[in-house]
Amino acid sequence: METVAVKIKMGHLVPVLLAAGLFVGVTALAGSSTKAEQAEQELRVVLAAKPDPAHGERLFAICTQCHGGSGQGSASGWPPQIAGQHRSVVARELVEFRVGLRLYDPMSRIAGRHVLGAPQDVADVAAYVAGLTPVQDDTETPTAGLNQASSLYVARCQDCHGADGQGSDAGYVPRVAGQRYEYLRRQIEDAATGRRPDMHGQHDALLRDLPVGVFAGLAAYMSGLHRAGE
Ligand code: HEC
Ligand code: HEC
Repeated sequence: METVAVKIKMGHLVPVLLAAGLFVGVTALAGSSTKAEQAEQELRVVLAAKPDPAHGERLFAICTQCHGGSGQGSASGWPPQIAGQHRSVVARELVEFRVGLRLYDPMSRIAGRHVLGAPQDVADVAAYVAGLTPVQDDTETPTAGLNQASSLYVARCQDCHGADGQGSDAGYVPRVAGQRYEYLRRQIEDAATGRRPDMHGQHDALLRDLPVGVFAGLAAYMSGLHRAGE
């Protein structure tokens, strides 16, 4: 993994160094600020950068080790599909792993300075990932509880995640249609119990009063939204 990272950086040493200087500057400015403020500042720099998808494609080689050759994720939902995820969402998640706001050590290392050294790197790989074609999760998902899940989704989730589960690039809302069922189920459980502390959108309040039994149905419904819309 290290070899790939070094090879990629050598070809782009000058821009990487320039951009890294900027990134360090931004982080230093953040000084005593909270991780959330730091993430917000870094994300602003990333989203202002003009993406270079060809460089993003080279960086993506590292991601394929876990997320699969075309970003499709694994059936176990660990790791999730990232293909076709909105650029703003990929960028924000990478920055949050980077500053330690979202917790998963291997992703924090990948999004950290050794691999995605500069905001330009994050911008490039996010644009490339967003351009990949998402696939529908093909694992068997529960069919029980889908009606209840559908009403819940319409009442509590649809405003943000969209009637067809497409999310929104402008709103930083992830596309969930087609996403790995197992991944969604785990995220919903984690959000309900506060184990995903970076989760925006008041999910704890939206999920807290629901019996845990409905989470699997919700995840299956969300994953299948794309299919239902066809
Ligand atoms: C060592 C394995 C590994 C590598 C390499 C890796 N990832 Fe991940 N990634 C994961 C896992 C596992 C998760 C899920 C973590 C969680 O559940 O919180 C994840 C989560 C993500 C997410 C959040 C998805 C979402 O819907 O919120 C994004 C975005 C992401 N990775 C992008 C990337 C990119 C881009 C690269 C390459 C630069 C990369 N990952 C490399 C394992 C990896
Ligand atoms: C106010 C808007 C809003 C509402 C309402 C909302 N969400 Fe979200 N959701 C978001 C945003 C924004 C994110 C991205 C979270 C992050 O990582 O910061 C998200 C992330 C998620 C994720 C993780 C997806 C991923 O790729 O990691 C799941 C699962 C999810 N929401 C489920 C739900 C469910 C179930 C409901 C209804 C009970 C719901 N959401 C209601 C805005 C919303």
